[in-house]
Amino acid sequence: MNGIELATPSSESAPGFAADLVAGLSRDRKELPAKYFYDERGSRLFELICELPEYYPTRTELDIMEAHAGEMASLLGPRCLVVEYGSGSSLKTRVLLRELERPAGYVPVDISREPLQRAAAALRERFPRVPIRPVCADFTGEFPLPHEGLGPARRAVYFPGSTIGNLHPPEATALLRHIAAQVGRGGALLVGADLRKDPAVLEAAYNDRLGVTAAFNLNLLARANAELGADFHLDRFRHQAFFNPVRSRIEMHLVSVGEQQVRALGRTFHFDDGESIHTESSYKYGSGELLELAARAGFRQARLWLDDDRLFSVQLLEVP
Ligand code: AVJ
Repeated sequence: MNGIELATPSSESAPGFAADLVAGLSRDRKELPAKYFYDERGSRLFELICELPEYYPTRTELDIMEAHAGEMASLLGPRCLVVEYGSGSSLKTRVLLRELERPAGYVPVDISREPLQRAAAALRERFPRVPIRPVCADFTGEFPLPHEGLGPARRAVYFPGSTIGNLHPPEATALLRHIAAQVGRGGALLVGADLRKDPAVLEAAYNDRLGVTAAFNLNLLARANAELGADFHLDRFRHQAFFNPVRSRIEMHLVSVGEQQVRALGRTFHFDDGESIHTESSYKYGSGELLELAARAGFRQARLWLDDDRLFSVQLLEVP
């Protein structure tokens, strides 16, 4: 052995992870999908990121919600069914739910089953009169919406956290189209998105001094070791995050320290010194640019809210 803990492959690995790992590491430019960050440990690390002084998005979005949830709720109207994409711990949702007039129901949609059940249980306690119907699904795919007995006046998707920024613009447009179809005519989308700004501010948010973002990034390799029996040496990859101004996105990479081979799923992957795995893109739009994508998907803007420093945006979009 070589000082690296050899993890036993667990019997249950995330669906698609094995195929996506092989495909992603076989490419000319190696990459892994960001959605695999969020196992139990990754979800916990992400919650820690949200508390970091450098990571302004979560805090700023919560401030916007606290300042304007009353207005958002009145624009959404009474008996609205709220479907949340990538609900996580649902902190921002509480701010919205407590302002809504007799909501028809709340449907959190998330790929991680346990955190989803925990969040649903906590919300049921907090909002005993609101029907809470969690759906465990990948929101980028097809899934049925529960609506028996809910009889909503209107459907709205709540898509906070700048999660939309993880999608490449054509995928984001496709997802927005899917949302437009899901909410139907007169339906709404309330979306929170980070804004383009001084690259120094952006880069600091993904290169925190405590190294939590680095641990979050490297957890992807730890997860591949644990779930797929890969043999990544975590000390031979380093975290890198920078703003790519041409694509207007933060890119996160794991950069190989020295030349090396990694074995996973019966294959060998070669890394040159300095070669990277691209693990995440986080697109930063101007407030009008996201609206352009949404307009292409059939939405029109009803309202836009920004914080005073114009760091983050929340917009209400409607299907006419
Ligand atoms: C949850 C996708 C919005 O892109 O800022 C945080 C994830 N990655 N730090 C983001 C993340 C590194 C986050 N999103």
